[in-house]
Amino acid sequence: MKFKKVMALVLTGAMVLSIAGCAAKNTGDGGDTATPVEDKKLVVGYAQLGAESEWRTACTNSVKEEAEKRGIELKFSDAQQKQENQIKAIRSFIAQGVDVIGVSPVVESGWETVFKEVKDAGIPLVLVDRKADVSEDLYTSYLGSDFVEEGRKAADELAALIGGKGNIVELQGTVGSSAAVGRQEGFLEKLAEKYPDIKIIKSQTGDFTRAKGKEVMEAFLKSDGENIDALFSHNDDMAIGAIQAIEEYGKKPGEDIKIVSVDAVKGAFEAMIAGKLNVTVECNPLLGPQFFDVCEDIVAGKSVQKLIPSEEGVFRQDTAAQDLPNRKY
Ligand code: AHR
Repeated sequence: MKFKKVMALVLTGAMVLSIAGCAAKNTGDGGDTATPVEDKKLVVGYAQLGAESEWRTACTNSVKEEAEKRGIELKFSDAQQKQENQIKAIRSFIAQGVDVIGVSPVVESGWETVFKEVKDAGIPLVLVDRKADVSEDLYTSYLGSDFVEEGRKAADELAALIGGKGNIVELQGTVGSSAAVGRQEGFLEKLAEKYPDIKIIKSQTGDFTRAKGKEVMEAFLKSDGENIDALFSHNDDMAIGAIQAIEEYGKKPGEDIKIVSVDAVKGAFEAMIAGKLNVTVECNPLLGPQFFDVCEDIVAGKSVQKLIPSEEGVFRQDTAAQDLPNRKY
């Protein structure tokens, strides 16, 4: 009898403690309600897609620095551009019971199953930089760039450089990534709408890397070297690789072959100052502060925007020297 009473007291105490410990879970989609645990350190898992470009390094640094500044425990994983690695990382974040998961999906498709697992675990999911082709109830918020608009801007810039007519080659980003899909869509949309005399004579992926950008540009030059008026590169790194290929081929990048790329990283400004790149369309990688604002709001039970767009401009050769000292990445 006495033993039963003691056990009852112990069990009741354990239940109270366990309820208090679980109180901060909130999916941020208006489903569950939260009782924030004030002094609990926020734990965030971030499944970065890789380290393929200067842009990506700036994005990673922004996330890491901001986590440190805010005293957030960050569990960071670099998937080396492989979706299966990102999926593994997300599953490990679920197992570790993080408060929020952030992911920059390397490609758009193939996320349904693992995102459902995140939802079933009651963990809010934030898409950072790139989109995923899933229903909206599987994530809480997306923050990043309007890739289609970047493609439209690039088409206008390139058309102005070649007088609305000529042959261009395109270096695409990672096949199936929202950045490559969107940039190409916006670019083609503008050509169809305003520039019927511009033709894309070659288009291939360079996977967003400098090395592949160079390799693919070499192949373009080999087959069509005397026939290329301009290059549209889905990012600055591939454009920088292509610049080397054009020089080795014996032409002047930025003059004989006009070049427009996307990102606006420092390397692009240096290339513009050297007269080798004509225009870069900005894509902002400094997403750390916005990302952790969203994480903190979700955990505090505040409602967050489904789509948080970045503000971005266009930078041209004539102002590159003035712009460079102000660039943060
Ligand atoms: O998703 C953004 C793109 O990814 C950047 O334009 C590119 O440089 C990076 O690899």
